Amino acid sequence: MKTQARYACQQCGALAPKWAGRCEACGAWNSMVEELQRATPPKGLGPGGGRRGGRLDFVALRGETAGPPRLLTGIAELDRVCGGGLVAGSTILVGGDPGIGKSTLLLQAAAALAAGGSDAAYITGEEAIDQVRLRAERLGVADTPVRLASAASVRDIMAALDDKRAPDLVVIDSIQTMYLDTLDSAPGTVSQVRGAAQELIGLAKRRGLIVVLVGHVTKEGLIAGPRVLEHMVDTVLYFEGERGHQFRILRAVKNRFGATDEIGVFEMSDRGLVEVPNPSALFLADRSNAETEPGEEGGRTAGAAVFAGIEGTRPVLVEIQALVAPSLLGTPRRAVVGWDSTRLAMITAVLDARCGLSVGANDIYLNIAGGLRIVEPAADLAVAAALISALTETPVPADTVVFGEIGLSGRVRPVAHAEARLKEAAKLGFAEAWVPAGRAARGGEGLATVAIGHLSELVARLPAAPRRRVQPAGSHRFAAAP
Ligand code: TYD
Ligand code: MG
Repeated sequence: MKTQARYACQQCGALAPKWAGRCEACGAWNSMVEELQRATPPKGLGPGGGRRGGRLDFVALRGETAGPPRLLTGIAELDRVCGGGLVAGSTILVGGDPGIGKSTLLLQAAAALAAGGSDAAYITGEEAIDQVRLRAERLGVADTPVRLASAASVRDIMAALDDKRAPDLVVIDSIQTMYLDTLDSAPGTVSQVRGAAQELIGLAKRRGLIVVLVGHVTKEGLIAGPRVLEHMVDTVLYFEGERGHQFRILRAVKNRFGATDEIGVFEMSDRGLVEVPNPSALFLADRSNAETEPGEEGGRTAGAAVFAGIEGTRPVLVEIQALVAPSLLGTPRRAVVGWDSTRLAMITAVLDARCGLSVGANDIYLNIAGGLRIVEPAADLAVAAALISALTETPVPADTVVFGEIGLSGRVRPVAHAEARLKEAAKLGFAEAWVPAGRAARGGEGLATVAIGHLSELVARLPAAPRRRVQPAGSHRFAAAP
């Protein structure tokens, strides 16, 4: 008999015959937990053994399939991230740090659906009924006909929902608290999470209802992260944001029924999550309100650049802030919030090697305003602009947006969706865009483009200048968004 794997990684689900401090498959520490095994392995079908299988009906690729039926929650940011509404019969996993707002968002979604005449149920395994009621009160949705229950046993949930009166949507908050009494392991372990999810996914498919699973992500790896679930469910959404920030970003990382690069932006208010339909205005809000202070010019400090980004199908303008300070002790410090630190290292190296600046020897702090996390390489040029500006203490002109990818040679490469980026910048009142040379991208109304072919041209635009330069008049036109 083969040796039986007895330990399962709570992060990635990998099995190992021996306990180890670190999972060999995903590298997570302290994540191996003993799982009870079936006494005998399942029997294979075997050659000619037993029953014959039924025949498969092969069909053509082309067929008369209408798009899947979708349910709109009316929370437009959520609907868009899901690909235009929630698909009946599908399972959606919503992951995120504790306290980020998952329960709030899903209670709001359930309430919105219930208010619209759909049948929505909310099952809490984590909080008491009273806690959920208090939240509903706070959100102003206490009178919507959401069916609320407190349960942790999947058997009970099945008994309640697996019939003709199944609701249109059920929220399970959270999957880590659910357990199957047929399994011996504790709730939250990989086998429980996987087993419970399997049942609930089966329920979704059988009854055509939408199952939303809430999943916590913990660093310790003691609770099964939603990682193991990601390939089981149809859609994976991550809810993220800085806890101290009011902005929350819902991001699709997997979607069988839509695009995966879509984001939804919310703001956490004292009455729940509020949609932010025009995030650019929000991520730039601080800029337009800024007062002129000594050491700043026209409300701008050196070390900031506005990046014209694309999130999914939507252009988003966001400020990138850099602080460059002489390093006092040994290894220079790097602190990056909202961007990839490896890419930052690359850009500082290119600035050092190709442009003769010595950025890399300094302490560098880089921050994406508003708690947004940017993954596009198109932000390279804007990051470089913020860094150079911080180093030379020359502000990037206030009415300028920047985008472009930087190669190791220092060349600036064109990026996708240039038109959409420029249009958004023009819409928000920017007057100039620093863009990659090459494929000429036309600005919108009143937007001039400056082609940057090599990083050194960017450096030339931000020379270490005498302080307190006088800005030309009319250089903060970015404030007015129609
Ligand atoms: P919650 O939805 O409970 O987070 P999760 O389910 O992801 O753990 O939200 C937690 C935070 O949101 C909590 O710190 C309080 C805050 N909050 C508000 O600021 N306004 C509100 O209207 C609500 C309901 C919560
Ligand atoms: Mg919660």
